[in-house]
Amino acid sequence: MGQDEGYLLDNRQVEAGARFDALSALFDASTFRHFESVGIDKGWRCWEVGAGGPTVCAWLAERVGPRGRVLATDIDVSWTETAAAEGVEVLRHDVALDKPPAGPFDLIHARLVLVHVADRDAALRSMVQALRPGGRLLIEDADPALQPLICPDEYGPEQELANRLRHGFRELLRQRGADLSYGRKLPRLLREAGLADVGADAYFPIASPACDVLEAATVHQVRDKLTAAGLATDEEIERHLANIAAGRLDLATSPMISAWGRRAPEGSL
Ligand SMILES: C[S@@+](CC[C@H](N)C(=O)[O-])C[C@H]1O[C@@H](n2cnc3c(N)ncnc32)[C@H](O)[C@@H]1O
Repeated sequence: MGQDEGYLLDNRQVEAGARFDALSALFDASTFRHFESVGIDKGWRCWEVGAGGPTVCAWLAERVGPRGRVLATDIDVSWTETAAAEGVEVLRHDVALDKPPAGPFDLIHARLVLVHVADRDAALRSMVQALRPGGRLLIEDADPALQPLICPDEYGPEQELANRLRHGFRELLRQRGADLSYGRKLPRLLREAGLADVGADAYFPIASPACDVLEAATVHQVRDKLTAAGLATDEEIERHLANIAAGRLDLATSPMISAWGRRAPEGSL
């Protein structure tokens, strides 16, 4: 794969750290609530797929305690590595291409990963295979097409510019094979994968300081690609960054769909 293909928001860029902090501020509380309702306990073996930053896998390590196991994998573990100090095993691993790591696991979780993975069907199969009978899968992914506006309240030119640049960002994602309607498909995909007790819900903030941080870091990260593709000018990007800094945009995110299911116990199929 060429340097300019594949995952758009490369973890090696400095903005990735700010993006992971913002994702944590926006979504960790909801993710942790889902873990508690889907099932998590002392001694459990967990696999955090496409971990990115350290907060989710560190929370899992604390929750499962010293008798448990937490494996955090990513194609680029630069921002995950600090979780090793919390007892997390960190491994460079491509969920679509590499064999699943040695398991089985009681709980497997991936947040905002599969939407970016071209062979997301293979990735999902690999996760389901790695579950123990009765093990839980929680997949959380965006559905940008369900609510495409970064400024749902488009009341003036600043908000209109923000939504236009968001449209350009989505175009870049689409060109790299992202499925922008993936989130809504998760309940069906989990059922088709043979999971039982499948359920799903959706969440997104309508305005939050962390949305501003996330958008500024994302725009910095992709600005060259936006201009090279003719999707924005440097002047528009500078204007948008100034508008974000002024704090009046009420930026939202795409809806995050959380979908869960349980691998049927041996002999029950
Ligand atoms: C948008 S970030 C989300 C990070 C984290 N899960 C969160 O919600 O804060 C997507 C992450 O998926 C990782 N990723 C992308 N493609 C992957 C693949 N094929 N296998 C494993 N991880 C991948 C990226 O490196 C990045 O860390």
